[in-house]
Amino acid sequence: MRLDVFTQVPHAFAWMTEQRPLAAVLGTELELRLFNYRDTTPLRSGQVDDEPYGGGAGMVLRVDVVAAALEAVYGGEPEQRVIALTPQGRPLTQAVVEELAAEPAVTLLSSRFEGFDERIVTNLCSDAISIGPYVLSGGELPAMVLLDAIVRRLPGALAAGSGEQESFSVELEGGLEYPHYTRPAEFRGWQVPDVLLSGDHGRVEEWRRAQSRERSAS
Ligand SMILES: C[S@@+](CC[C@H](N)C(=O)[O-])C[C@H]1O[C@@H](n2cnc3c(N)ncnc32)[C@H](O)[C@@H]1O
Repeated sequence: MRLDVFTQVPHAFAWMTEQRPLAAVLGTELELRLFNYRDTTPLRSGQVDDEPYGGGAGMVLRVDVVAAALEAVYGGEPEQRVIALTPQGRPLTQAVVEELAAEPAVTLLSSRFEGFDERIVTNLCSDAISIGPYVLSGGELPAMVLLDAIVRRLPGALAAGSGEQESFSVELEGGLEYPHYTRPAEFRGWQVPDVLLSGDHGRVEEWRRAQSRERSAS
């Protein structure tokens, strides 16, 4: 899969590329490209945003700047999905992540300050996604959230088996995962449930399913 991220802060992504799971698939299952709007802006002095028409505070990312950035990379209209990251987009869920992880290529557009000129979202993007009903200062963290969630679904990103029975997975019928415990078996009188120490895989599986259903119902 190829993921292209357009941002004013490409260096913000550096730490992620050194960490698993991204590091495990970079260069094999994943090609990650970071583009700075400033590198292709048709305006002078690296300008990418401007004051809002109608007045008001904040700067707005310009449509001609984003169009020039897309043109420079794709040489025309991109064939892949181009997603604006905005609090006004479709809410990000695991189902959306699975959908995007199945794409051969995806483009993420981030903004800062007051956000996008609306013509970017309506004319240059295929989708708009929000990572939650709150406002962050820029699209870089949302892009990283999406990137991390997508990467986990790529082959080789996680240890075998560890990404299958997770919260919101089809394996757990979209519900929450069961609780986990590790050594010690008793700490301050807090016991690990007996069934997990029984060695009976059938009972363990049954208990986990029941716990998952109980958590998901409440
Ligand atoms: C300060 S926000 C702009 C908020 C916008 N003025 C509004 O009220 O809807 C600047 C940028 O951060 C990103 N952003 C902030 N919160 C986000 C969220 N919940 N989901 C996705 N992107 C977000 C977007 O790229 C957005 O354009």
